[in-house]
Amino acid sequence: MTNKKVAVLSGDGIGPEVTLAALAVCQAALGEQSVEWIETPFGNQAYLEQGSAFPEESVQLCDEADAVLLGAVGGPEELPPDVPRPEMGLLTLRRQLDVYANLRPVRPHPVLFDTSPLRPERLEGVDILFVRELTGGIYFGAKERTKNSATDTCVYTVSEVERIVRKACQLAMDRRKKVTSVDKKNVLETSRLWSDVTERVVRDEFPEIELESLLVDAMAMHLLSRAQDFDVVVTENMFGDILTDEASMLVGSMGMLPSASLGNGTRGLYEPIHGSAPDIAGKGIANPYAAILSGAMLLRLSLGMEAAASRIEEAIEQAINDGIRTPDLGGSETTSSATDAVIARLN
Ligand code: NAD
Ligand code: IPM
Ligand code: MN
Repeated sequence: MTNKKVAVLSGDGIGPEVTLAALAVCQAALGEQSVEWIETPFGNQAYLEQGSAFPEESVQLCDEADAVLLGAVGGPEELPPDVPRPEMGLLTLRRQLDVYANLRPVRPHPVLFDTSPLRPERLEGVDILFVRELTGGIYFGAKERTKNSATDTCVYTVSEVERIVRKACQLAMDRRKKVTSVDKKNVLETSRLWSDVTERVVRDEFPEIELESLLVDAMAMHLLSRAQDFDVVVTENMFGDILTDEASMLVGSMGMLPSASLGNGTRGLYEPIHGSAPDIAGKGIANPYAAILSGAMLLRLSLGMEAAASRIEEAIEQAINDGIRTPDLGGSETTSSATDAVIARLN
């Protein structure tokens, strides 16, 4: 019996559908070891019911929890223009937990090569870990809207860049010791700072790391032409958001990429990289694998339950090998039948 506490923010659209799947699989994998999963309101639905997209009770619970499991926020109803968008609640949560490092692993599964628009020879052996800066940059800078103009400010401090680059290098030391830093230093001052700090941190603290530096526009191309060359990719908040949606197509679907967001301690926020998918919400056909894999990352990285995490990942692997595919992967499984198939394959 453990006394670990996980806040569950299932959110909007397919969020609750895939979160339910992740919970069912985690609970089945844990068996005797119990974890307290506490559901709490978040997102558009919370706003409509309680007048806030991130109500105080949820703020409190996330603050006290050992980890947070999140589905997705956003839509389908448009909120009144004077109300903060539910996505702002997500940004507030990331800041509140100080989870500045968003880890998004990309490992195409050979059995799913046919679901990617890329040719198999471009996918063979691809194993990338994106490390996206999550609590700074243009997402959090001052914003202003006047009648005739709008402003978003992008700010990065030296210490914000140092800590994310250190995190990326530490992760790379346990992998292939290569870090690719992505920026837009031919145009942006924040990118010039990013690049200077990155070079210094790698040179002074991680001499064994091979550092490659690419401009973000070129990276969007290299990701499709030579994905095998990348090991750890570190980049700022917005570039990381965009490049990882692109990278999901190496694996075959947005419904395949999990993520873990960490700060300096073990508390983390775990969410699939996809959104609330209003186009398929309520149909029971969302791919639950990204959410389930996020649950596995939560068990491993925040709760120290490595065995259960590995069993979940192996069960998904087995389900994929056995052709268990939701429609985004060209199959006809539902969210719940795919989830049951994973549970049936937990050893
Ligand atoms: P999206 O990720 O929700 O959907 C993009 C496409 O991928 C859609 O065609 C969708 O059907 C498909 N897709 C996504 N997840 C899938 C899954 N698990 N299984 C099968 N297909 C899947 O992006 P969007 O449509 O641009 O955004 C919709 C809303 O979600 C917006 O309000 C956006 O702000 C929000 N959003 C939230 C998060 C989050 O909460 N972390 C992330 C991204 C977008
Ligand atoms: C993501 C999402 C979010 C982001 C939105 C919903 C704020 O796209 O987690 O990738 O841009 O970070
Ligand atoms: Mn995104």
